[in-house]
Amino acid sequence: MSHEGPLAGLHVVIDAGPTYEDIDPVRFLGNRSSGKMGFAIAAAAVAAGAEVTLIAGPVALATPAGVARRIDVRSALQMRDAVLQAVEGADIFIATAAVADWRVAEYSSRKIKKGPSGAPVLELVENPDILAEVAARDPRPFVVGFAAETDHVLENGRKKLERKKLDMLAANHVGENVGIGSDDNALDLIWPGGGESLPRAAKPELAKTLVARIAARYRAQARA
Ligand code: CTP
Repeated sequence: MSHEGPLAGLHVVIDAGPTYEDIDPVRFLGNRSSGKMGFAIAAAAVAAGAEVTLIAGPVALATPAGVARRIDVRSALQMRDAVLQAVEGADIFIATAAVADWRVAEYSSRKIKKGPSGAPVLELVENPDILAEVAARDPRPFVVGFAAETDHVLENGRKKLERKKLDMLAANHVGENVGIGSDDNALDLIWPGGGESLPRAAKPELAKTLVARIAARYRAQARA
């Protein structure tokens, strides 16, 4: 933590990357999230003076210099536990993780074998919504969510902002080599009563601008 910068003196918790939902000892359900955007935001938050806790799903990324603590998790349930503990007393929560929406209802501790009865049918159950759970807390940190949208970005984004009771939503444009898994991204920022489009840029560049906007909104809200 530094004594200078727009986030000086603030504890920022960031979740990042995918979650893997194990089916048996050798198989899992996963997604294409690289964690790059979340890690870039962690680096930008450190540069802005914050004390940063980074909760990472399975990613192949080095911890950005200056991150106070990194907690590695695998599944959505593990991520939820780590996040709920970390946000206790935190000032800002930024949910960049691509949390799996479902996990298998029953993990098989033995490798599922091929057999005469044909392909197995996986029963799935919904994972808890970590972002919505943090936003429902009282007291709660300033809460920033992400959304991956292909169409009607602003309209869907504003609905999500209201439904999940967020302080800010960053809507990712998905497709055309931007967003999930790529090195570039473009974001539509939405907050109650306002918004701003951040044009396509490399993730570290975009992360810097996003962190500056989060700091400004956080300070504006603290003054209100
Ligand atoms: N999120 C979460 N826990 C989940 C699912 C999502 O914390 N179980 C968070 C993500 O980290 C992200 C936001 O919620 O900040 C994404 O919201 P979601 O409703 O999953 O949006 P999309 O992925 O855009 O999916 P959909 O359009 O299907 O609602």
